[in-house]
Amino acid sequence: MNILIIGSKGFIGSVCYNFFKDLDGYDVYGADVVTEYNDPNYFLIDATNADFKSVFRKHQFTWCVNCAGAASVPDSFIRPEKDYLLNVNLTVALLNAIREENNDCKFLQMSSAAVYGNPVVMPIKETDRLAPLSPYGIHKKQAEELCELYHKYYGLSIFIFRVFSAYGRGLQKQLFWDLFKKSRSQQHFALFGTGEETREFIHVTDIVNAMSLVISGNQTGFKIINIANGSPITIAAAASAFLENIEFKGVFSFEGVNRSGDPLYWQADTSLLKSLGYQQQISFEDGIKDYCKWLKERG
Ligand SMILES: NC(=O)c1ccc[n+]([C@@H]2O[C@H](COP(=O)([O-])OP(=O)(O)OC[C@H]3O[C@@H](n4cnc5c(N)ncnc54)[C@H](O)[C@@H]3O)[C@@H](O)[C@H]2O)c1
Repeated sequence: MNILIIGSKGFIGSVCYNFFKDLDGYDVYGADVVTEYNDPNYFLIDATNADFKSVFRKHQFTWCVNCAGAASVPDSFIRPEKDYLLNVNLTVALLNAIREENNDCKFLQMSSAAVYGNPVVMPIKETDRLAPLSPYGIHKKQAEELCELYHKYYGLSIFIFRVFSAYGRGLQKQLFWDLFKKSRSQQHFALFGTGEETREFIHVTDIVNAMSLVISGNQTGFKIINIANGSPITIAAAASAFLENIEFKGVFSFEGVNRSGDPLYWQADTSLLKSLGYQQQISFEDGIKDYCKWLKERG
């Protein structure tokens, strides 16, 4: 089976690339905007003018996994046009290249729980109302709609992963990275919110496990799947666990004011994911321990 990972140098994309590279029966190709001298199975993409059609003209794939895209809610408020280019433009360019050059290539899109905004009912189901609270969430929703359009009108088989909060070795953004930086420079610091907000953390290895279930199942059609463990944890508990593992000796508190674009509570309905055979392999406790080990090693 030939798999093309777009964004193969990124946080999720690199774990995905390495996972499939080591599996028998898979021929794996990467594509990113970063120069790579040693990997023959790599396509260098022009960051300002991505030509995906030439990639699919050179090679035909069974699956294309789109791990590219912007992944920061705060940054999407500062640079909405950049977020749009990476999350919407890039997705439609890929979909169109597949439509024209490799019509039977199945497409796996990394979307985000940000499309939900603040849920009305929990746990959140894939069919629930979408009410994003940020440019990032809106752009992810637009990209999902484009995926549906290319399935409906052009017959592409498309799977959308609504990823909740991903973490693991390599992550250099979001809550834990902010905590890491603060813990290295300050003995007292405050975080946004009250700490009572909840998130669904999923280790990057478990995201890739979920990918492998969909890819090896070789399904066709159109499906949107929540990617989470169905075990919400408060920001206060997550921050405490992280800071304990990083051996922070100072004090942290919460400002009591929520940041624009941040939803309050999340709990995912994971029935669909579990029906594919998914089982969590990395507990939050083990995952955080391993992530902190990596952070401490890199200094
Ligand atoms: N990290 C999370 O917690 C999280 C949660 C939900 C959804 N997601 C989604 O998953 C995807 C991957 O997230 P991530 O955290 O790995 O992001 P990342 O920023 O670490 O990786 C994105 C990669 O895409 C590459 N890229 C940018 N433009 C490209 C282009 N034109 N062609 C090919 N590659 C290009 C970048 O160079 C980078 O290596 C994003 O779409 C993100 O929105 C991430």
